[in-house]
Order: sequence, then C-alpha cells, then structure tokens
Amino acid sequence: MLIIGSLALLFLVWLGRGESPTTKFRAEEDGLALTPPMGWYPWNEFGQEPQNEKLVKETAEALIRSGMKDAGYTYIGPDEGICFSRDASGKLTSNLARYPSGLRGLGDYLHARGLKYALYTDAGTHTCSKAMPGTKGHEFEDMRAFAEWRADYVKIDWCNTEGQNPEQAYTRLRDAQLAAGRPIVFSLCSWGQGQPWNWAASVGHLWRTTGDICAPGKASWATAMQNAAANEKLYAAAGPGHWNDPDMLITGMSGLSEAQNRSFFSLWCMMASPLIAGNDLRSMTESIIKILTNREAIGINQDPLGVQGRIIRRDGAVEIWAGKRLFDGSQAVLVFNAASAPAQVEVTPSDVGFEESAPLYVRDLWKHETAGPRAGNIRVTVAPNDVALLRVSKTDSFPLPPIIVADSYRAVFRTSANTPQELTQAITVRNNGSGALPLWKVRAGLPSWLSVTVSQSGNTQTFANKVSTAGLSKRHYHAVVRADNCEPLSGLPMSALYYDVDLEVAEQPSVP
Ligand code: GLA
Repeated sequence: MLIIGSLALLFLVWLGRGESPTTKFRAEEDGLALTPPMGWYPWNEFGQEPQNEKLVKETAEALIRSGMKDAGYTYIGPDEGICFSRDASGKLTSNLARYPSGLRGLGDYLHARGLKYALYTDAGTHTCSKAMPGTKGHEFEDMRAFAEWRADYVKIDWCNTEGQNPEQAYTRLRDAQLAAGRPIVFSLCSWGQGQPWNWAASVGHLWRTTGDICAPGKASWATAMQNAAANEKLYAAAGPGHWNDPDMLITGMSGLSEAQNRSFFSLWCMMASPLIAGNDLRSMTESIIKILTNREAIGINQDPLGVQGRIIRRDGAVEIWAGKRLFDGSQAVLVFNAASAPAQVEVTPSDVGFEESAPLYVRDLWKHETAGPRAGNIRVTVAPNDVALLRVSKTDSFPLPPIIVADSYRAVFRTSANTPQELTQAITVRNNGSGALPLWKVRAGLPSWLSVTVSQSGNTQTFANKVSTAGLSKRHYHAVVRADNCEPLSGLPMSALYYDVDLEVAEQPSVP
C-alpha cells in the first residue's frame, strides 16, 4: 500500500512539473538553426527531372565562387531529385545512375568544401511525384539511412499522406531522427496543414506555413506576396531554432524585376525566414549576386534575437514593417510599396520602438548609407514594388551578427602504419560578422582516440583534431564533434558547430 502511495505521489509530482520532454524546443538540445537556415535547394528552378549529382556539385562550386558561402549559405542538396529507392529488403539505396558517387559520396563532397548536406523525403507512402518512396512505416530505418549518408538537414514533405495526422507523423519522424543519433535540422513541409506553428517547435526547426511559392521554373510574384501575407500573421511563433517558413526564395528566377527581387529578399529577411535560394546559381547576374549576398540585409535575417518582423501599419498599398529589435538594440524597418506609383512615407520614431525626441541614425541597407544623428520622422520615397530596408539606432555603429564559414566540415585520417600513430588535422572556422567571438567550446564526450584543441587568430579559429591510434583495432572509427559559442554583444547562444571526423586504421597498430 505504502509503495503504491509513494508511486502515485511521484507520478503527481512529475505531472506537476508542467512539462514533458515534448514541450521543449528541439533546438535547445541540439543547438541547431538558432538563426534561420541558409542554403540552396533545386526545386523552384528545376523541379524534379533535371536534378542529379552534376547539378548539385556545379551549384556548390557556384555558391562558393559567387560569395554566397561567405555570406552564410550553407545547406545544399537535392530536393525531390529521384536520388534513392527502396530495395526488396526495405532499405533505402542511392540512385547511382543519377548520383554516381552515391548519396554518402555527395555528402562527403559537400562537407569537404565547408558546406552542409540537405536531403529530402516525405511523410507519406511516396514523395509528391511518386518517383521516390516516402517514410511511412519505415521512419526509423530511413532516418538511419539519412544519418549514414551524413545528412545535416532533412526536408520532409506531406504528399500521399491520406489518413495521417501531421503532428503524429512528424513527431514519429523526430523520434526516428533522435534514435539515428546524427544532429540534423528538421524542415517540416506540410504547407501549413495541421498548423505546425502551434506544436512543431519541439519536433523540428522550421515548418512551411504556406503552399508552394511557385511551380518549377515559373516564379510568381502574386503567389510570393500571398505567402508573405499568410506568414506575416504567424510572427509570434518564430524564434531561435523554430522558424516559420514561407518557402524557398524566388530571387533570381526569371520574370521578376530588380525591384521585385530586392523587395522579395527584404521581406524574407524581415520575416526571419529561412533563406534557401531556389534559382540557378550557375548563371546569376551581378545584380542578383548583390541581392543574395547583401550582408547588411542578411544581418537582419540572421540576428541572434530571432524576432520575426510584422506589419505595424498600412498606408494604402504601402506596408510599414517593424517590431524587429536586433541584438545591438537597433531596430529593423521595412517600407514596402506594393502600389503602382512611387510613395512618400513617414515613419515615426515610436513606430520603430524609440522615443519621439531621440536623435537617431538611419542606415539604408540597400544604399549602404547612414544619415544622422537626426530627430523627428523618418521620410523615405519608395518606387513601385520596391522597398526601403532600414536599420535605426541611437548610435552610429551597425554591427553584423556572426556568420560562420568553415573551410571543411570533415577531417579524414587514414593510417596503415603498424605502430601507434599521432596525427593532426585542422579545420578552420571564420566569423564573417563584426566583432571577435570567444573561443568555441568543444563538447565533452569525445572518444578516447580523439582530442580537439581550439586556437584563435583574428576572426579565424582553428580546431586542431588529434587522433591517437594506440590501442585501436584495424577498422573504421567515426566521431561527430560539437562546439558551442555565444554572440558576445548579446550573450545569446549561437548555432552549434558540428563536423565529422573519420579515422581509418588499415593495419593493426602493435606496440613494438
Ligand atoms: C512539394 C514541396 C516543394 C517541393 C516539391 C517536390 O510540393 O512543397 O517545396 O519539395 O514537393 O516534389
């Protein structure tokens, strides 16, 4: 009786904690995507058929060459690119005709270039075109396959899901990812079905709030504006590690004017939306590169506070977006003129969170010019379909948040020596934001054959990975290193840094 009473009491105490593991933000544990993910997926421009290994590799090179990697774009890979099938035993296997290196080989290629690997699948029986198997009934083995392929990001679609419940299906997939043991950014893609903004922060890191922004190769300004309008209303749900996703970028696709490209990108920055480019990076004009790599606009998007801006006022077809405080106490403001004539707009200091009399500096993030100190209303003239993207501050300094760029996300060791070896290989990680970061702190719990020390020189930090083969057997060893850091001005945690270490011991090292 006493035992039953104690158990009941324990149960009541547990209930009274008011939290279960599923009410936590997933990103609190894995530290992933604490700012909106940036990268590239082929779907918007290419659809399904033209996707293959060559396209992904050429795009990776273009992303690096164009300066997009240095601006923070990291996650890249096939969308629904017919890249795997299921064999008779139920196991996923790479489509070697389209991806001759196999999906693991493609991941290694991207990691070696300091990029992260994004893959795609579906929560139902098949992907949308039915050309690939979905995860239904195979969640755990499929997420294990993604981990073996070394994916860092997975988008899970919602086609062919008749009778399935989004919250249950995606929660099971979350559990499957955790069981597979590889840190992974989870992008839920139910197009808003099941209202993921109400529950998905404990499941994944971002969720689509809308239907597709365009059919492949056909950018639609009207649909983009509908997606922005629907996504804007959900601003309260967004924050570090849990983002509203109004779909991938259409910047740089044909059919948009330069002003529309600029406006679109500004809206996505202001909404703290994931910046997953969807255009052909191999053939961009200078003007598109300038838009996609505008570090001052990206700084608004990648702000560590992670606030999603919103419309605070409308003057006819002109929208005034604010409510986006930034990590240094400044405020982001967007004036978007959706009318067909130029608009003259006044924004008051209190519209953007300052006292009316405050002397303010106003920086135009497209003209890269600062005005001030000045008092009173901020006046801008905005062309049709264009924007003024501003940052307003009490001081004349506009620091950029950290942008972390690695030379590689993989250290590979191979030794066939028959005596114990100590080998070292460095991974360097640069901060392209302003300000000096503290040293990255490597998480405890590395295997005994690996040690990592971090040193700093200017804005670059070097992770020296040292392996020691004494006492090891002839086989392959693998570890994932995690390091954490904080943005120094705000003290807020930055996205955790992860990379792979592989050690191939080809001969049994014996002590002489
Ligand atoms: C859905 C998604 C798109 C894309 C396609 C692939 O429509 O919403 O983003 O992934 O599937 O078929």
